[in-house]
Amino acid sequence: IRVLSVASEAVPLVKTGGLADVVGALPGALADEGVAVTTLLPGYPSVLKALGRARAVHTWPDLFGGPARLLAGKLGAHPLYVLEAPDLFTREGLPYADAAGKDWPDNWRRFCALGRAAADIAGGAVVVRGKAQRFDLLHAHDWQGAMAAAYTRYAPFGGAAVPSVVTVHNIAFQGRFEAAIFPETGLPSRAWHMQGVEYYGGFGMLKAGLFCADAITTVSPTYAREIRSPRFGMGLEGLIAERGSAVHGILNGIDGELWNPAHDASLAATYTARTLSRKTINKRALEAEFGLVEEDGPLFVAITRLTWQKGMDLLPEMADHLVAQGARLAVLGSGDADLEAQLRAVAARHPGRVAVRIGYDEALSHRLQAGGDAILIPSRFEPCGLTQLYGLAYGCVPVVARTGGLADTVIDANPAALAAGVATGIQFDGVDAQNVAAAIERTVALYGQKDDWQRLQKNGMKADFSWGASGRAYARLYKDLIG
Ligand code: ADP
Ligand code: GLC
Repeated sequence: IRVLSVASEAVPLVKTGGLADVVGALPGALADEGVAVTTLLPGYPSVLKALGRARAVHTWPDLFGGPARLLAGKLGAHPLYVLEAPDLFTREGLPYADAAGKDWPDNWRRFCALGRAAADIAGGAVVVRGKAQRFDLLHAHDWQGAMAAAYTRYAPFGGAAVPSVVTVHNIAFQGRFEAAIFPETGLPSRAWHMQGVEYYGGFGMLKAGLFCADAITTVSPTYAREIRSPRFGMGLEGLIAERGSAVHGILNGIDGELWNPAHDASLAATYTARTLSRKTINKRALEAEFGLVEEDGPLFVAITRLTWQKGMDLLPEMADHLVAQGARLAVLGSGDADLEAQLRAVAARHPGRVAVRIGYDEALSHRLQAGGDAILIPSRFEPCGLTQLYGLAYGCVPVVARTGGLADTVIDANPAALAAGVATGIQFDGVDAQNVAAAIERTVALYGQKDDWQRLQKNGMKADFSWGASGRAYARLYKDLIG
């Protein structure tokens, strides 16, 4: 089976969040299931640079206002296509916004172009030695990839639509634009319909993809249920509910090559569940790196986008509470400028006990998981979440809100689970200051019961969150759709 996976991010080439981890891992996860995945990415500067000199396998003289070429390369061991379109993607800044964080005004054009190109490629536009390279299925991720499913459906290359899957990594990001762009999208007028790309009077890219895809997946079973309700569906709940059994929740896995404390080159000391005491070396190194005092209480960490979704507006209050309980906190994050300033202030209030690094630092995120005792994840919603999975693998006990993938992957240390010896972390209901404070108290108390705590850590480290089962679930879905 040949699948074209289209997304805006993939490790190690471009990453703003978990989407990149997942898109980067999918080809490997599916290779084991006999599925050959080619990934299509936009030609951002970082991507083109990593690609080096590559050969062009297709050209578009005019793709949404400018010329474009398709370059062929590798994403790890797997085939990669890069859409080089200088007018659209070759610019400095973030993938979706300029350096000041303001969305690019032509985002609709950029990601319509990506979708159009994906539909062309899947339909066989690339010709090698006279033979069209058609794909069996198109798998699009999030709103940036979603238009691929719409173009495939309304204007397929070569006239025959390829089956499509759209994966929702976060339904809060929807790619909504003004109705005025519709005539420029190249879609037939019949697509302008509630049963089509129209969305509350405007143009909705994720909406279009969810309507047109043959199947929809999202990244955990609980989130797949949650998005049928207004609270989580954010306007798309009706469509999700209507698509019924075409909606599947398939949990993300983690890449055991990149995230494994037994051979992680960025750590002060590698360790396993059997050599867990060596984790302390990482804790001491982390305290030194963050200028934290050495104390008996637990060291909490947070590694996150600083946004309301992640509950990070509660962090200043949590930090005060946690310090009062004899714990310490190290934060790595970036995002909302107000939250960044608040965090700096809280660190200044608690020198030696709270420390903050504003920025994005992949290696440091590994050192935090290795050195931390517990990772705080008070998300208001969380489609899957990867940092709790990395926490589990690193013996950094997750303290999570009971929502989405967090609910599906952490086993709360309630008395029954502790007695049965199956607990892996702490869960709490309702993200507000009081509930988070109570969860922190529970965590500090558990940390004091050394045997229970070690059991939690070891259970987490032994839990299997590799891609095996999820890779099989995707492969099964692909096969069903291809028929
Ligand atoms: P989301 O995609 O919603 O941000 P996930 O938990 O799925 O949440 O994935 C976040 C990914 O980004 C993880 O790989 C995490 O380690 C990483 N990450 C988040 N913030 C930072 C940061 N400031 N520096 C380094 N890595 C980060
Ligand atoms: C999104 C979600 C996150 C998920 C990630 C990868 O960014 O916010 O929960 O883990 O995508 O699927």
